[in-house]
Amino acid sequence: MGKTLAEKILTINTKKDISQGEYVLVNIDRVLLQDGTAPLAIRQFSEMGFKKLFDGSRVNFFIDHASPSPRMELSNDHIFIKEFAKKYGANVFDVGEGICHQIISEQILCPSEVLVGADSHTCTGGALCAFSTGMGSTDIAVAMGLGMTWMRVPESFRFNIYGRFSPGVTSKDLILKIIGMLGADGATYKSMEFLGEAVAKIDVEDRMTIANMAVEAGAKCGLFPSDEMTLKFLKEKGREKSFTEIKPDDTANYEKTFDIDLDRLTPCISLPHQVDNVKTLEDDETKNIEINQVFIGSCTNGRINDLRIAASILKGRKIHKDIRLIVCPASRKIFGDALKEGILETLFEAGATIIPPGCGPCIGLHLGVLGNNETCVSTSNRNFLGRMGNPNSNIILASPATAAATALTGKLTDPREVL
Ligand code: F3S
Repeated sequence: MGKTLAEKILTINTKKDISQGEYVLVNIDRVLLQDGTAPLAIRQFSEMGFKKLFDGSRVNFFIDHASPSPRMELSNDHIFIKEFAKKYGANVFDVGEGICHQIISEQILCPSEVLVGADSHTCTGGALCAFSTGMGSTDIAVAMGLGMTWMRVPESFRFNIYGRFSPGVTSKDLILKIIGMLGADGATYKSMEFLGEAVAKIDVEDRMTIANMAVEAGAKCGLFPSDEMTLKFLKEKGREKSFTEIKPDDTANYEKTFDIDLDRLTPCISLPHQVDNVKTLEDDETKNIEINQVFIGSCTNGRINDLRIAASILKGRKIHKDIRLIVCPASRKIFGDALKEGILETLFEAGATIIPPGCGPCIGLHLGVLGNNETCVSTSNRNFLGRMGNPNSNIILASPATAAATALTGKLTDPREVL
């Protein structure tokens, strides 16, 4: 029997002929922690009696959730993290560098690697064909100390993607459509593997949007093959030496296979308060919904492609007078590129408020907490009650194109109406 992408990567990692359902000990290539989860992992690490990291150069701390810090307790957490990293020789990405999943993919992660992170959207790294998965702080403490973890090799779902995205339809619409189809627990502990002829034309940035949300269907990971697009991305970052081609075998065993025709895909959104409450903008219940805030950013959709789409819709126009448009590039590199390309100027001229790279409004800590009964269209990945800091508010998940179109009109709007 041939191997799925998950089986291929874990076979490379363990140097054993493993297959789905087996329990295996895996060597950790990279560890990721963010400022919300790192303090607990550090305390667990110390309580377990570890005296050193397995390899400080492979352990990465990101100050991204409260960045810059809005409260003294969080500022003190940042000091605690940085002192630990200095003492044990780990990497720190401080305020303004950006969101953990973005930076690790831009600068560090390579195809075939295993990444574990103290953050549920660690699955983003699957865009680079790295087995990337989120874990609790205690498991991450063990991974930091031993450089190993155990896992059950997941069964896989195959998504055969074909056709082409129509104008105004993006990778976010694709993953929302898939989550709506599967449900929030429809892929629990599976490896979601995105394959088919259209995947060759989806660049790594857009693959990151899709892999990022695999966990919203309960998946262990979301994987793309390592192919020409992967090589192109790595070349742009000066990291082409780390390229390895990885694709699944034709005879691989997939538990379920889904065919998805991009030609038939239309803009999708998730209505409050569940990610799998997915509708298309053609559905009646999505009409005439008044919006107060639009957020374009996050580890799901804060990349240059996303900002470019928003700028293309808002160029030479002004946002609706009753809308707050908050834009947050996902990393310092993206911020700089968007600045040089004139994207930020376009968004600023349209009326956007640009905030520093980080998690910002997505986590509801600061920089965009909603008021009572307000509704936000957000390009992030979760619309749970209270996610943006107020249990008396609503979040609608959407693509950057839908978000920009909505910012123009003040109502939830199909981007195809304003292109
Ligand atoms: Fe940050 Fe929101 Fe992603 S909190 S890591 S941008 S899900």
